[in-house]
Amino acid sequence: MASLTVRQLDERLKKLLRLRAAKSGRSVEDEVRTILRAAAEDTGSEAPETGNPPSQPPRRPASAPAGAKRVLLIVGGGIAAYKSLDLIRRLKERGLAVRCILTKAAEHFVTPLSAAAIVGERIFTDLFDASSEFDVGHIRLARETDLIVVAPATADLMAKMAGGLAPDLATAVLLAAGTKILLAPAMNPYMWANKATQRNLAQLVADGVALIGPGEGEMAEAGERGTGRMAEPLEIAAAVERLLASETAQPLKGTCVLVTSGPTHEPIDPVRYIANRSSGKQGHAIAAAAARAGAAVTLVSGPVNLPDPPGVAVVHVETAREMLQAVERALPVDVAIFAAAVADWRVASASEQKIKKKAGRATPELSLTENPDILSTVAHRKSQRPQLVIGFAAETENVAANAKAKLASKGCDWILANDVSPSTGIMGGDRNTIELVTATAIEPWPPQSKEDVAKMLVARVANALAK
Ligand SMILES: Cc1cc2nc3c(=O)[nH]c(=O)nc-3n(C[C@H](O)[C@H](O)[C@H](O)COP(=O)(O)O)c2cc1C
Repeated sequence: MASLTVRQLDERLKKLLRLRAAKSGRSVEDEVRTILRAAAEDTGSEAPETGNPPSQPPRRPASAPAGAKRVLLIVGGGIAAYKSLDLIRRLKERGLAVRCILTKAAEHFVTPLSAAAIVGERIFTDLFDASSEFDVGHIRLARETDLIVVAPATADLMAKMAGGLAPDLATAVLLAAGTKILLAPAMNPYMWANKATQRNLAQLVADGVALIGPGEGEMAEAGERGTGRMAEPLEIAAAVERLLASETAQPLKGTCVLVTSGPTHEPIDPVRYIANRSSGKQGHAIAAAAARAGAAVTLVSGPVNLPDPPGVAVVHVETAREMLQAVERALPVDVAIFAAAVADWRVASASEQKIKKKAGRATPELSLTENPDILSTVAHRKSQRPQLVIGFAAETENVAANAKAKLASKGCDWILANDVSPSTGIMGGDRNTIELVTATAIEPWPPQSKEDVAKMLVARVANALAK
């Protein structure tokens, strides 16, 4: 039998052994003995002839309870990286299974060994590391997780994420991620305020990335104060719990939801149109909330100044007739929510050329014709009628009574009535006060943000579908 000492092993293997030993609290020699003993006892563990280790089922760190939610922590190369060790502890305290990637820059601030000792399993650092590629691999790292947390998120990591770059393990995993990502940015206030960082931040938020911090305060650099401090580990851990809870609650998984949003523009001539004051904020919030609840969402949107909600298929239209066409193309769906403020009328014959003002010529008269009624058309369909058809009633007087009449005349299941008198600030504003009108009841909802209205509606829809 050949003799072999640990000193004869190559550096990479020695490093891996040290990590395993640190994790299990054994000396390196004892760790080797334990591995050899387990290999000798395990008759089915022979490597295949290719030399590649057999593919293994997804593993959880031994310390995490079965069924624990999985968090992948990516530590960027900033001063605040030292706090990430405490963050790992805080996440584990909450029963989460933690895996950790250190960027090359992060290794200047915390060592893989100390991070591994706290995580309780190996740390990932290299994209082109054959052993980790066989063992877990960057795609599995991205996929076998319920949430990715980047803390500290450096200006550099944010820029690469916003640009879709993947030059190293951390960024390749972030690009391949299918789960929610939470960023805890940390940097010097000038780096944070830099237009490039703010551009990247806006892009990442539009892409659906969640943020915690940065806060204001003293910087590591002597005498510097401002915005750029990483959120405290306890705050990050609380945000993780909140996100995991909302990600788990996917009551609309497996359902298809159609939402319309925004105004329509009805042309008078090629440059003029009839419009209304709808901003699309409510409809877009509903589409985003339904997508977060797991639904496959199609949003048919009139012209708005809002980014497309993440994870939603958006069809952009201008006129009521285009909106109806797009809605009918999106059928069949389980639920249709018509939040768009569709123009009731259009100009009967819009001019193909710009109508000119000429001295002595009479003021042009606009002759109007009725637009298709999208809500009523879909609610009265003989085939492919969604299980739940929900309309909005924008009223300026007798809100509930008008909504009740609208429910009956349109043939829909629910109406969300709101008072859009200018004094309420609802049209174009961020808040809404709703009365939910059904065939049997009128239910006043409290004044709240349009996002909260969206969440409440989605919860009601999920309840109704579950019955
Ligand atoms: C001492 C020191 C502290 C640094 N602190 C930060 C920081 O807090 N935030 C940041 O965005 N970059 C910071 N940097 C710059 C990053 O380390 C650098 O941009 C690096 O390329 C980031 O790599 P990563 O994004 O792959 O981790 C610091 C650099 C040094 C030398």
